[in-house]
Amino acid sequence: MTKHPLYAVTALFDSPDGILRAAEETSKAGYTRFDVNTPYPVHGMDKAMRLRPTRVGLFALAFGLLGAVSAVGFMTWVTLVDYPLVIGGKPFWSWPAFVPVAFEVTVLMTAVLTVISMIVIYFKFPNASHPIHDSRYMKRVSSDMFGLYIEADDPKFDEAAVTVFLKKLGAREVAPVHFDDPYGAQRPRLFEPKFIAICVATALIMSGVTYVSLNKILFMVPFNWMSVQAKLKAQQTSELFPDGIGMRPPVAGTVARGFLPYPYKGKPDEAGRNLVNPLLPTREVLALGKQKFLTFCSPCHGNFAAGDSRLRGQFPNPPTLHSDKIRNWPDGSIYHVITDGQNVMPSYERQIPRDDRWAIVHYIRVLQRAQNPKESDFK
Ligand code: HEC
Repeated sequence: MTKHPLYAVTALFDSPDGILRAAEETSKAGYTRFDVNTPYPVHGMDKAMRLRPTRVGLFALAFGLLGAVSAVGFMTWVTLVDYPLVIGGKPFWSWPAFVPVAFEVTVLMTAVLTVISMIVIYFKFPNASHPIHDSRYMKRVSSDMFGLYIEADDPKFDEAAVTVFLKKLGAREVAPVHFDDPYGAQRPRLFEPKFIAICVATALIMSGVTYVSLNKILFMVPFNWMSVQAKLKAQQTSELFPDGIGMRPPVAGTVARGFLPYPYKGKPDEAGRNLVNPLLPTREVLALGKQKFLTFCSPCHGNFAAGDSRLRGQFPNPPTLHSDKIRNWPDGSIYHVITDGQNVMPSYERQIPRDDRWAIVHYIRVLQRAQNPKESDFK
């Protein structure tokens, strides 16, 4: 042990006041390379030790700027050089779109690189040991005593003088600590073959596992059940049919459930004779009819069906629906005009569902009745 070079002289104190005073005196005496270990944080210690503010913030700033610059730089290259795409008529270099990505990359690089550099530069990873580990000093300062050590590479260091100095400060025990390593100072281990081999092995194992699970295991039974399905996608061919087309039209005569095809196409008289409004003119049905009439019919027929089109001559004005003709029409005839159209008025079969059409018919009856009230309506 004694052959190994000296790392530091350690001293143990038994009170927080004692260690605070010792730290103050040590920095006052001009020592710069010393450290303090306490079982819990002691207030005012950084001031007593005259510690300079940490430089970790500067690292974080540098990495953050690196993140922002690389994110914006990459997106600039993509949008201007590699793959310029017009998106919604915006300029290629549309910076507001970069803000979220730049922000995320900045935060990511700051966090990850700051932690890595802290571990590597300050904690000297992958060096896992420190000369004071396993010393009696370390055992005491992590339980009930307060310790201070002055390192041998301090410019003012002299073993005998430092021992006397620490004893004078009131130290309980003063003891030298030597390097574990016969060569003295900790060598950087970052480029040692063993460490590099571990890194390479980890990378190989991780990428191997990822590759096998994503490219092999997922394609084995039963993990492929989700992706392999007996179905044809829209444009796929099929050997089942002689023409090889996978997407088949419905069989002739197919009818959607609950919807019979309209049987009176081109037969307005039969429609008027045979169709009966299946809905009752309840408050809800009339409200629905009003809403649909105002949406689909009023642009041409006017809000009150008087034929006062809002289209200002862009489309032939329809006749009023308050004529005796329409008032005497059966419900089925009005329904037929909505469903089948009439001359220039197009069919609304596709826009308006069946029941909504019948509700509109009820609402037209309300409009007609409002223009030609009966005596009984006033009672
Ligand atoms: C694009 C404008 C337009 C829209 C929208 C429109 N119609 Fe018409 N409608 C007309 C025109 C024009 C006529 C006259 C057709 C003709 O010359 O026979 C007409 C005729 C009619 C007739 C027959 C009137 C008659 O005297 O022969 C009825 C009933 C009718 N529409 C109801 C409706 C209903 C109900 C809606 C809403 C679902 C509607 N229309 C939507 C333009 C329109």
